[in-house]
Amino acid sequence: MSQPAKGPSQPDPRPQEDTVAYDIVDGVAWVSFNRPDKRNCMSPKLNRQMLKVLEDLEFRDDVQVLVLTGEGEAFSAGMDLLEYFRAAEQEGLHKTRQHQREAYGWWERLRWYEKPTIAMINGWCFGGAYGPLFACDLAFCSDDAQFGLSEINWAILPGGGASKVAAELLNFRDAMYHAMMGENLSGPEAAAKGMVNESLPADQLRPRVQAVADVLKRKDSHALRATKWAVRRVREMTYDNAEDYLIRAQEALNDFGGWETRKEATKQFLDDKTYKPGLGAFDKSKLGN
Ligand code: COA
Repeated sequence: MSQPAKGPSQPDPRPQEDTVAYDIVDGVAWVSFNRPDKRNCMSPKLNRQMLKVLEDLEFRDDVQVLVLTGEGEAFSAGMDLLEYFRAAEQEGLHKTRQHQREAYGWWERLRWYEKPTIAMINGWCFGGAYGPLFACDLAFCSDDAQFGLSEINWAILPGGGASKVAAELLNFRDAMYHAMMGENLSGPEAAAKGMVNESLPADQLRPRVQAVADVLKRKDSHALRATKWAVRRVREMTYDNAEDYLIRAQEALNDFGGWETRKEATKQFLDDKTYKPGLGAFDKSKLGN
């Protein structure tokens, strides 16, 4: 029997707090877009809540790594055509700008997050979702994930940074094809083209992300923060400016206990012979002993 046709979509009546879920397990904050019925598309309420959650988690001692994922069968189907776009267009430019600021605000916050971040792409990932995808330091997806710049299919350009993300992560021809054709990339295709680090069978996605998070947890957190910011910053610098920035960034890192940390790590390698930096991290539990 065929399904009865659905009526027009309605705004999500749930309170803002329900649009994002999170769970902190053993140093990892698993944060999810929580509108599975709407394929986790980003409404203004969700964008406001996500910024709040990110801010709440950023300096907590029990959070060392943040993973961003989606409830249900989507990572995120991009911006909410009903509540983000159409509702704002009916109210006027001031509302459009407010919605943009709220969305772009949390993506920017995530790009420069204090803690390492991993995008775990478990399904649909469209348009505006490229903002948080790029904002996360690392990205892993399931083989059945689908990545798309669907904007051209409904007659807009890939805004909100999406064109920039495609141009950053893909080569020129692939970015053009992706943006102009409105065809999706599968998980393995996205990995082959550099949009994500790896694509895995769905049942291996979370264990792999957990394993990566466990490695990150063992690194010195200040060095990790300086490293991830350095890689983002130097992308847009000349070689000479990058060299200089990295000198200054290391000197700033020294102010976060960097000298003592490095001294201990060097001692464990050169004197104690308890580890090799080429094969893994030093034992940071011995710091201050
Ligand atoms: N904006 C608003 N609503 C969206 C949405 C979006 N970006 N993506 C999904 N939804 C809504 C659907 O309208 C539907 O709502 P309803 O229950 O009120 O009818 C619900 O989420 C489920 O979506 P549906 O299309 O039935 O799910 P599906 O699994 O068959 O298809 C997609 C999933 C992602 C392929 C499809 O929803 C889609 O194409 N979404 C738009 C993607 C897009 O172009 N995003 C723009 C990014 S800027």
